[in-house]
Amino acid sequence: MDEELPREVVGVGLDHPSNPINVGAVLRAAGIYGADLVATSGRHHDPKAPTNTHRAEREIPFLTGLEDLFDAVPYDCAPVAVEKRKEAVSLPLYEHPPRAFYIFGGEDRTLGPRITDRCRDVVVIPAGIHNLAAAVNVVLYDRRAKQVRQMEGEV
Ligand SMILES: C[S@@+](CC[C@H](N)C(=O)[O-])C[C@H]1O[C@@H](n2cnc3c(N)ncnc32)[C@H](O)[C@@H]1O
Repeated sequence: MDEELPREVVGVGLDHPSNPINVGAVLRAAGIYGADLVATSGRHHDPKAPTNTHRAEREIPFLTGLEDLFDAVPYDCAPVAVEKRKEAVSLPLYEHPPRAFYIFGGEDRTLGPRITDRCRDVVVIPAGIHNLAAAVNVVLYDRRAKQVRQMEGEV
């Protein structure tokens, strides 16, 4: 008999981030919003950045230095690229999958087809270019806000 899966899973993947201050801030955001894991590809990052004040890596898995971010996508989780792309769905209109792994580009990069072609959806924050950690906070907040509204029966 199949085991029952947890209803919701939230993963955050960073494709080749370069700045440890951002990686720390993303860990902090993941902790605050109750994400289940954070993964980074490219070089190894020490989670003990000054921005990771709550030391989120003590609570949730932090997988760093991965060759392929998709190795970190949990079972039955939809990979969602967050990027400014013409075909992207605008975040306020986006219905988040219950089990989602959000992928963001590094500070000096943009997510290209290497990532987006393997994602279920591409989502854009309808504004200018955000700092990487700010973009993660906005997406996790949007997800939380929609959950709260649903619980309140507003959507
Ligand atoms: C600092 S941005 C990279 C900026 C890129 N070097 C450029 O100039 O276009 C880092 C990542 O944050 C995310 N991001 C920033 N602003 C965004 C927006 N308005 N919509 C969607 N994603 C955004 C994307 O994942 C992006 O790859």
